[in-house]
Amino acid sequence: MEEMKEWCRLMPKIELHAHLNGSIRDSTLLELAKVLGEKGVIVFDDVKDVIMKCGRSLPECFQLFDLYHILATDHETVSRITKETIEDFAAENVVYLELRTTPKNNQAKGMTKRSYMKAVIDGLRDVDTVDVSFISSDILINHTSEKKKRIFVRLLLSIDRRETTEAAMETVDLAVEMKDLGVVGIDLSGNPIVGEWKTFLPALMYAKDKGLPITLHCGEVPNPEEIQAMLDICPERLGHACFLQDEEWQRVKSSRIPVEICLTSNLQTERLTSIDYHHFDDLYKAKHPVVICTDDRGLFSTTLSNEYYLAASTFGLAKGQMIELARSAIDFVFADDGVKKNIRELFEASERAY
Ligand code: IMP
Ligand code: ZN
Repeated sequence: MEEMKEWCRLMPKIELHAHLNGSIRDSTLLELAKVLGEKGVIVFDDVKDVIMKCGRSLPECFQLFDLYHILATDHETVSRITKETIEDFAAENVVYLELRTTPKNNQAKGMTKRSYMKAVIDGLRDVDTVDVSFISSDILINHTSEKKKRIFVRLLLSIDRRETTEAAMETVDLAVEMKDLGVVGIDLSGNPIVGEWKTFLPALMYAKDKGLPITLHCGEVPNPEEIQAMLDICPERLGHACFLQDEEWQRVKSSRIPVEICLTSNLQTERLTSIDYHHFDDLYKAKHPVVICTDDRGLFSTTLSNEYYLAASTFGLAKGQMIELARSAIDFVFADDGVKKNIRELFEASERAY
């Protein structure tokens, strides 16, 4: 078991569904909460238990997201969380990371969606333990040593389901503006029982018009009407897809839309009673495009290596199948062909080395 876990850590991997603020280290979260407690912004004892709790329900997760938003409101903190998240993924041999985040306005802190994203970019530039490439396929940022690990990072801007059409449009405009700064697509996320599809549709269609690929959190709760409407716009990828019915699965399978699989997240938020019944099994056996992801590595106390280990141990995947599964994700990244070529090379070099 331990040998297999270590093997999963060493294997080169691609992460395509990771939320920035859901990836905060527990230690950082506690530290930030303590400081805000001392300043009287929050009552530390009120939040300590939620932060320390394991196995949170879905409502508790969204309660924690609200807390994240209070904690991570200044630019410096956003940069720090970004830097640490990149370092954590690189440390477990993630060679390409598509990190998604919701640009936030916070007037009291002088934060706009644009300045929030600038803080994210600053965080990328601050990383010094690993070579980070986030602008173009051949330019490496912070490139100091051939011996250092290398990670390609691209960004997705998330539209939160609580947002208005105007706010969602603003996010898409920002994504278009930031194409040269590593932004490669748009995500729709947030509490799945909040908001209406018609609110986000104009912004998503606008993103499509601008050539930005889209990934949607889809079917996190049973909502056939919305799932059908989501499939109607032909998104480039789907997240979760837990509550799809047969007819909807047929549409997904015939259009070969890759599905981002987040096993621990789905289990902890009670999307299914047992991991043995997870739709990964059916999709994998049907050779449908799937990619193993963490969703929120901090919130769910997991890692991408752990998610691969979970898939292997639950569904009986051999090492060769795991490598193929990890490598197949190259085809589903939103970055350009130059980056895909680079990641392929990183995979080959990494496989030779271990
Ligand atoms: P952020 O966008 O960097 O602030 O990352 C946290 C946000 O991601 C949360 O506030 C949610 O809007 C979204 N999110 C994270 N995990 C999930 C999920 O499982 N379902 C839906 N939305 C999620
Ligand atoms: Zn998610």
